Amino acid sequence: MVPAAEKAFRTGQAALRLWFPTLAGLSFRPRQQGLVHFPGVGVPLRQAKTAAVQAVHEVMDYAPVEIIDLRHFGAAELRPLLMEEARLWGERMSWDYHSSAEMILRYLDSKILPGYTAVEDGHVVGYSFFVYEGSKGVVGDMFTAARSEHGLGERLLNHVTETLQNSPGIHRIEAQLLLHDAGSTVPSFARRGFRRFPRLFMSLPLRPAPQIYPPELKGFSLRSWAEQDFQPGANVIMQAYAGHVDSEINDQYRSIAGSLRFLNNIVRFPGCGTFDPASSFTVVHATTRAVVGMLLCSRVRDDVGHVTQVCLLPEFRKQGLARAMMAACLRSLLDRKFSELSLTVTQANSNAVELYERLGFHTRRVFDAFVWEG
Ligand SMILES: CC(C)(COP(=O)(O)OP(=O)(O)OC[C@H]1O[C@@H](n2cnc3c(N)ncnc32)[C@H](O)[C@@H]1OP(=O)(O)O)[C@@H](O)C(=O)NCCC(=O)NCCS
Repeated sequence: MVPAAEKAFRTGQAALRLWFPTLAGLSFRPRQQGLVHFPGVGVPLRQAKTAAVQAVHEVMDYAPVEIIDLRHFGAAELRPLLMEEARLWGERMSWDYHSSAEMILRYLDSKILPGYTAVEDGHVVGYSFFVYEGSKGVVGDMFTAARSEHGLGERLLNHVTETLQNSPGIHRIEAQLLLHDAGSTVPSFARRGFRRFPRLFMSLPLRPAPQIYPPELKGFSLRSWAEQDFQPGANVIMQAYAGHVDSEINDQYRSIAGSLRFLNNIVRFPGCGTFDPASSFTVVHATTRAVVGMLLCSRVRDDVGHVTQVCLLPEFRKQGLARAMMAACLRSLLDRKFSELSLTVTQANSNAVELYERLGFHTRRVFDAFVWEG
């Protein structure tokens, strides 16, 4: 439920450093210099050939805009573009993206972020980056300036997905581009064999305050999220998502280690959303004292909350426990004068979608998640 850019940053850095030498073998030079450079050492032949074909393709078909390796650029060149992107995150999702933008800019200056830029008349008008997480690649983000030519985003994504699919040891690629409307990025991913999962960005205005009546809890209690909840929480996530569509989209849900990584990323790392302990709860079984469910909420703007996780063990569903956690979360946000609560949910997860609709959430946007396995 965390935006891809955020997830990518939080989860991929160690692996990113690990893989960087492999990627560093291939670099594109600006076309004005009249060459595409292949250092050769360590570059698989297939990758080199592909890059050559791309370069020729660009020279012939797309003269005005060049696609260049992201690591040729730093924060100064990308800042105007990222500020334009931050404005859009605010408009489309009530999300304060500035801290994430600053984080990306820092990474750009460190030259450790693999990806591509689109350059027109010496100005960066688009970018896309990715990270490596073990044998998985995560497309972190793609954004193009409003004034740039149509189809530029697709070109950037073509480069990113092709690079990832040709990276040795990469067997899975995940992408969730929240900022882009469903359908708008399909061609780049569909042509490369990705599966598509439409997802909803839902929102609940908190002014006037919504009326949510919490059910009376019998045999359970709600408790604020605490440090000792990581391990039991990871267990709940893995069991809650067994055979679930969301574990096809995010493979972290399939193991305890992955679920722990997910929780760590949500709770411990700041960025595009800061974990908000006051509105995050676990459900505890009164007799066994076991954690059977959780709702985690982050702050994505001073006055906007975002539910990053809600799940219950299968045997404790349909007793109103999710509604009870949501009511407690809302109470906490309302007490602190928040104005909105949002979340993302996979369209095919109809139980959850219907629950959110009954709670008063409405769909503000539809975007796509993509997964490739090779
Ligand atoms: C989605 C999920 C969190 C819902 O949890 P839940 O505790 O079953 O939800 P609730 O019981 O609060 O509400 C679900 C519905 O169950 C039914 N229900 C609630 N109490 C009930 C009872 N005593 N008897 C029968 N049905 C009941 C109602 O239809 C209720 O909706 P309503 O209260 O709005 O009318 C849970 O199904 C889950 O963990 N799914 C897997 C993970 C997931 O999909 N998470 C969401 C990702 S976005």
